[in-house]
Amino acid sequence: MQNAIPTAAATPEGAHPFPHRHLTGIFGLQPWEITFLLDEAEQWVDLNRQSSKHDDRLAGLTQMNAFFEASTRTLLSFEIAGKRLGADVVNMHAAQSSVKKGETLIDTAVTLNAMRADVIVIRHQASGAVQLIADKVDCPVLNAGDGWHEHPTQALLDALTIRRRRGAFEKLRIAICGDILHSRVARSNILALTALGAEVHVIAPPTLMPPAIERLGVIPFTDFDAGLEGADVVMMLRLQNERMQGGFIPSPREYFALYGLTRERLDRAAPDALVMHPGPMNRGVEIASDIADDLERSAITEQVEMGVAVRMACLDILTRKQRGVEGWA
Ligand code: CP
Repeated sequence: MQNAIPTAAATPEGAHPFPHRHLTGIFGLQPWEITFLLDEAEQWVDLNRQSSKHDDRLAGLTQMNAFFEASTRTLLSFEIAGKRLGADVVNMHAAQSSVKKGETLIDTAVTLNAMRADVIVIRHQASGAVQLIADKVDCPVLNAGDGWHEHPTQALLDALTIRRRRGAFEKLRIAICGDILHSRVARSNILALTALGAEVHVIAPPTLMPPAIERLGVIPFTDFDAGLEGADVVMMLRLQNERMQGGFIPSPREYFALYGLTRERLDRAAPDALVMHPGPMNRGVEIASDIADDLERSAITEQVEMGVAVRMACLDILTRKQRGVEGWA
């Protein structure tokens, strides 16, 4: 396993390493800003592997996680990340909140703000909802996934996993396969991985391929085998059934036959190709269980581990200004 390999331009002389108040997306980040976040996350990977995992730099700050959509990995890892950094962490699950009584998104945001949150983490089913909240509150806001739009910390944890396993992005061919159309993970990963210099193939049935996707600097394929050819990393995506209205695929069985990752199909990729999936997985729909569980090839649990480190880095960096950290105040 490799550590902290700089893979994109270093922060230019005189530039601030991360001049942003919020993290609403990868869009708009410079390659060196992404690299800075990854480099900062490395220290937290090391801390998280120790028996004592505490740091107190966020002591006294209140972190509010407001989740309007279901989550296991993102919610828990943001909660763990905040607690390991010493913050007071509270979670608001929309299903058990006054959202159920008809309270609007803006009123909910204003309410969290009035309780003097120091950092707010939001997941919402509507694209753009996180930016709307960021414009209304007095503290940094982190996007934990909004609609089809972006899931920036997922892309960062994926990039960290890839960098630690494979090194420089400039030499890598990365295939992102599945429901590209509805996937915020795909969009954030495309933006991050192309910015870092990787060659990115996107593979999907025609019904699940966004029009003009090549404008994002990727190479689209509707033939799974052709898109996998020589890939160093194969990133599988879940069918986002909750965002589909109508028949995008004939049946899960037919989808698996054409676009499911099997061992035989994986042979098209590079001999040591790394298999990734952001989770949750639909086993037997987009990925065969024997591949998902093959620890020689699959980095799926490592992605989850990197999620805590990346979220610790993001929480630390975005709260530096209010903590008066030199160079950030
Ligand atoms: N990858 C991801 O966002 O998983 P959760 O929906 O469980 O948070």
